[in-house]
Amino acid sequence: MIVLPRGIGPALSCGITFLAKCMSMEKIVIFTGAGVSAESGLKTFRAMDGLWNDHAIEDVATPEGWARNPALVLDFYNQRRQEVLAAHPNAAHEAIARLESMFDVTVITQNIDDLHERAGSSKVLHVHGEILKARSSIDPELIHTLDTPTIAPGDRCAKGSQLRPDVVWFGEAVRFMDESETLFANASRVLTIGTSLTVYPAAGLVKHAPYLAEKYLVSPDVQKVPYGFHFMRGLATTVVPHIVTCWMEGRSPVR
Ligand code: APR
Repeated sequence: MIVLPRGIGPALSCGITFLAKCMSMEKIVIFTGAGVSAESGLKTFRAMDGLWNDHAIEDVATPEGWARNPALVLDFYNQRRQEVLAAHPNAAHEAIARLESMFDVTVITQNIDDLHERAGSSKVLHVHGEILKARSSIDPELIHTLDTPTIAPGDRCAKGSQLRPDVVWFGEAVRFMDESETLFANASRVLTIGTSLTVYPAAGLVKHAPYLAEKYLVSPDVQKVPYGFHFMRGLATTVVPHIVTCWMEGRSPVR
C-alpha cells in the first residue's frame, strides 16, 4: 500500500478531478472575422470596394506599401489602434467568453483587435497579428507590447530597426496555422462568425472541421457557406448569444 503524506491525498484527487474535467470537456472552435467586431464600431474590410477606411489595401496592408511610405502606414494603424482602444466588446464577444464555463473553447480570430480577450476569452489565437503590439521591421519574432497608442517614425526595436505594427500583411506568413488546423480537426463544434472567408490561407481552416462536428456560420449576408456548415443569417450580437444559450442548455440552435 502507498501511504501519502498528510494533505497530499485531497490535493491529488482535486487535481485529478480538474484534469479529468478538462479532458472530458467538449472542444469548441470559434472562428471570427471583422463582422464579430462590426457592432462594436470597428469597420469590416470587404464592404468598401477594396478600400479600408478610405485607403487602398495595397497602400496600408502590404510590405510594398510599407516600403513606399512607412509614415503613412504608421499613421493609418495609429488611427485604427485608437479606434480599437475606444471600442468595447459586444454581446457576441461576451457570449463566446461565457462558453468557457462548460466547454474547452479556443477562439481563432482573423481580427487584430483585443475584444475577445477583453470580453474574457482566455485562449485566443490571432492568425493575422495584434494591433496593440509592435514588431521589429527586420525580425518578425521580436515583438513588443505597446505602452503608448502610437508608433512614430524613429521608434526602434532592440536591434535598431524601425518598429511596425504587429499585423500580418498580404503576402506575409499567417500565424498559428498548424495549431489552428489541429484545433479545427479535433473540435466537436465549430462556430464561424462575421468573415467573408475570402482571405487565404486563414479562410481554408474551415475545411479541417470534422464531417460529424456541429458547424455554423453566422453573418447577415454571405458569399459562400462552407460544406457541412449551417448558415444562420443575422447579426453577431443577436445570433451568437442565441447559439451559446442553446449550447449551454443542451438544445439545438436551429428551430
Ligand atoms: N455580424 C456578423 N457578421 C457581420 C456583421 C455583423 N454585425 N457585419 C458584417 N458582417 C459580415 C459581412 O457580411 C462579411 O461577410 O462579416 C464579414 C466581414 O468580412 P470581411 O470584411 O472580408 O472581413 P474578414 O473576413 O475578417 O477579412 C479577412 O482580410 O483584409 C484582411 O487581414 C484582414 O483579417 C482580415 C481578412
